Amino acid sequence: MAIPRLSSLFRCRKWAKSDWLVAFLGFLLIVFFLSFFFDSTSDSVPSVDRPLPIAYPPDLVKLKLSSKAKERGAFCLDGSLPGYHFRNGSGSGSKSWLLHLEGGGWCSTIASCSSRAMTRLGSSNYFEDEVAFQGVLSSDPSQNPDFFNWNRVMVRYCDGASFAGRPEAEFKNETRLFFRGQLIWEAIMAELLSMGMSDAKQAILTGCSAGGLASLIHCDYFRDHLPKDAAVKCISDGGYFLNVPDVHGNPTMRSFYHDIANLQGVHKSLDQKCVAKTDPFKCMFPENFLKNIRTPVFLVNAAYDFWQIAHVLVPASDDPDKSWAKCRLNIKECNAAQLKVLHGFRSSLMDGIGVFHQNRVGGMFIDSCFSHCQSLMPVTWHSPTSTRIENKTIAESVGDWYFNRKPVKLIDCPYPCNPSCYNSNFT
Ligand SMILES: *[C@@H]1O[C@H](CO)[C@@H](O)[C@H](O)[C@H]1NC(C)=O
Ligand SMILES: *[C@@H]1O[C@H](CO)[C@@H](O)[C@H](O)[C@H]1NC(C)=O
Ligand SMILES: *[C@@H]1O[C@H](CO)[C@@H](O)[C@H](O)[C@H]1NC(C)=O
Repeated sequence: MAIPRLSSLFRCRKWAKSDWLVAFLGFLLIVFFLSFFFDSTSDSVPSVDRPLPIAYPPDLVKLKLSSKAKERGAFCLDGSLPGYHFRNGSGSGSKSWLLHLEGGGWCSTIASCSSRAMTRLGSSNYFEDEVAFQGVLSSDPSQNPDFFNWNRVMVRYCDGASFAGRPEAEFKNETRLFFRGQLIWEAIMAELLSMGMSDAKQAILTGCSAGGLASLIHCDYFRDHLPKDAAVKCISDGGYFLNVPDVHGNPTMRSFYHDIANLQGVHKSLDQKCVAKTDPFKCMFPENFLKNIRTPVFLVNAAYDFWQIAHVLVPASDDPDKSWAKCRLNIKECNAAQLKVLHGFRSSLMDGIGVFHQNRVGGMFIDSCFSHCQSLMPVTWHSPTSTRIENKTIAESVGDWYFNRKPVKLIDCPYPCNPSCYNSNFT
């Protein structure tokens, strides 16, 4: 089906100039968040196969460079200061804190880290001055029913190794790249603790994609630095990366993680119980360390995660005859044989989270959408038309789990059974 873009949005009624502006900004933000996780080489504009939803007015939050980073030697890849965006909590949320760790892939070689150092994923010189707080970060209760009045922080990602790199691995072959993700994490934690987070009564560490992996890696550190009587939990959104071979049987993701871990020296930042037992880089795969995390964890993950399909399962470099060219970018274009492969990917995810499913304090929302990072946009997090399982949005599910209203272990039926899915289309 061809996808109407802005046209369908505007068909409904006559719009005032300000509506157009708001809708356009909202649209840009959606494009921004989606394009972010995609090949920086492809500048295709993603669209969806349902009319675009209501555009909420953007809530822009200013960048703050870290004041504790310099003294702690915490720098982005290029040596610039790391930063974050902070929205103050209010009322009943003034002692509640939600930290979101930004995502955006990884770099695994000197060359790729050097190019990254010249972008906003490797240098604060290129950070936006303001970002829109949407979804789990939103101040709007209709979009974010449980956390809208919490203190909310988006921590910018500029180290290229899920906030886990170490200076010991630096300056190989006389390069001037800083591998200080772990120090960035610690410096920003120290700063937020001094800003009132040390009195937190409730706290959540979350993040999406590479940031979703980081929220698992740093979950117990977060717990251990907050008051003992605080309710502390972690969410990983689109952060459950699988150690599976690609469609041609090559260990693409495994080699990638191996190279990131070696280049940036992340071993000491990973779960030490896991590291003692296996090749340390394998402890970047949640399936190998999730069971060791002491703090309650919630997994939000699409079973047909578009980033993993396009990078783990069918990397562009491993599709020489281009038979997957369309399917890897739009699930609607997959033929029966390809869908079978995608269902196999879903099965691997199910196997991976099998043990976690028994975890008494854990929670999950595994939908069957072609999606990735679903907590950052109202259309996937919470709105009248957003993705649901058993008639519950992701926001409602996470809220029920965080506040112990009821256990939440939601697993969707296989694609294409869920009509509420927001399936992205990058073709
Ligand atoms: C943030 O909120 C707290 C408590 O509500 C208040 O004491 C503090 O002054 C606020 N800070 C800013 C920067 O608004
Ligand atoms: C450094 O250079 C050597 C020799 O050219 C090469 O084998 C090695 O992979 C390089 N190290 C990194 C981290 O790129
Ligand atoms: C689904 O939830 C909405 C509100 O959250 C409610 O209005 C609706 O009746 C529910 N539908 C079903 C089938 O339970």
